[in-house]
Amino acid sequence: MRLLSIVGARPQFMKVAVIAAALKALPEGAEIEHRILHTGQHYDPRMSDCFFRQLSIPDPDFHLGIGSGNHGAQTGAMLAGIERVLSEWRADAVIVYGDTNSTVAGALAAAKLHVRVIHLEAGLRSFNRRMPEEINRVATDHLSDVLLCPTATAIENAQREGLGDKSYLTGDVMLDLLLKYAAGLDPHELAKDSYALVTMHRAENTDSPARMGRFITLLERLPLTAILPMHPRLRAKLPANDLARIERLSHVRVLEPCDYGEMLALERDACMVLTDSGGVQKEAYFLGVPCLTLRTETEWKETLEGGWNRVLDMNPDVVLPVVDSLLRGNGSLPKGVPDLEQFGSGRAGEASVKTILNSLRGESQ
Ligand code: UD1
Repeated sequence: MRLLSIVGARPQFMKVAVIAAALKALPEGAEIEHRILHTGQHYDPRMSDCFFRQLSIPDPDFHLGIGSGNHGAQTGAMLAGIERVLSEWRADAVIVYGDTNSTVAGALAAAKLHVRVIHLEAGLRSFNRRMPEEINRVATDHLSDVLLCPTATAIENAQREGLGDKSYLTGDVMLDLLLKYAAGLDPHELAKDSYALVTMHRAENTDSPARMGRFITLLERLPLTAILPMHPRLRAKLPANDLARIERLSHVRVLEPCDYGEMLALERDACMVLTDSGGVQKEAYFLGVPCLTLRTETEWKETLEGGWNRVLDMNPDVVLPVVDSLLRGNGSLPKGVPDLEQFGSGRAGEASVKTILNSLRGESQ
C-alpha cells in the first residue's frame, strides 16, 4: 500500500515524524510504502531542515519548493505540484496534517484524483472564519475520507458537521513526540532567571496594526524577562521601528526560531507562556506550565481545565494583572495536574497508523 504524507509548514514536521516512525515500526510483511512530499511552504533552515535532522524524519521524496505568497498563489501552486506528483506516483492514500495551506492543497488535489484522503488533527474548530486555518480545517475535513481526531472535543465537532461516521479518536501525536524528547533535555542556557516564553505568529495578530500595537505595549509592561523566539511572519510584518522598539527592551530576548528540543526546553523551564500558537498552548499544558493565550478563542478546550490555559485576547490591561497574580503565586495558580489521557497518553502515533490501515484495508476488500 502506498501512502503519501504531504507537509510544508513547521508544525507538520513534528507530526509526520511520529507517523513515519510508527509506519516504520510495523512488522515486516505490512507492505507499506510511505513517501513524503514537502511543499516548501516553510523554507528557512530554522523552520524546516533542522526538524528533519533533529527528529530523524526521512528526507522528502518530493520537494515542490513553493515558498511564500498570497493564499491563492501559494495554494494554487501547491495544487498543481501535488497533482503532478500524484499522477507520477499513484498513492493509495494521502495523509495531510493540521490546518495550513499545504493541508488543504493536499486534500483537494488528492480528492480530485480519487485518491483517499486521511486528515490527521481533524475536527478542530475555533468557529472563527476570519482565520485562514479555520477555512483550511473545515474544507479539509469535508474533503477527507478518514478523520483522525486528537480529542473528544474534535470528535464532537466532526459529528456536528455530519462527519461522525468517518471520525476516529486517536489522541494527539504532539504528545507522543513531547514524551519522547522532553525527559532528556538539558536546561536551556537562557533559563537562569524566571521568564515568560512568548510566541506570536498568527495572521489575525501579525496582520493587525492595532493588535500588534497592543502586543508591543504588553511586552514593554511585562514585569519579568521575556524570551521571544521570533517567527518569520512576525519579523516580516512588524514595521522596522516597531521591531527596533522590541529589540531595545532590555528585559526582552529576541531569538531566531528555535529547533524542537530548544523550544521544549524553553517551554518546560518557563514560569509562564504567552502565545497565540495552538501547538505551544498544548505543549505548555503537557508540561504543566501556565499558559495565557493571546487570542479570542482556542481549539484546545481541554487545556482550559484547572486554569492551565486562559484565553485572554490581546489586551495588556487584562493580561498583565494575570501575569502579576501568577508571579505572586497566590490563588490564581492552576489547579490539579494536566490530564494527558485526554490526548492519548503518548500512543497516538500507533493508534493513528492502526486506524489508517484498518480503514484502507477495509475498503480494498
Ligand atoms: C503557517 C500556517 C499556520 C501555522 C504556521 C506555523 C497557513 C495559512 N498558516 O503560517 O496555520 O500555524 O504556518 O508556523 O498555512 N516565512 C519565512 N520563512 C519561512 C516561512 C515563512 O520567512 O521559512 C515568511 C514568509 O515570507 C511570509 C510569512 O513568513 O511572509 C508567513 O508564511 P506562511 O507560509 O503564510 O505561513 P505562516 O504564517 O508560517
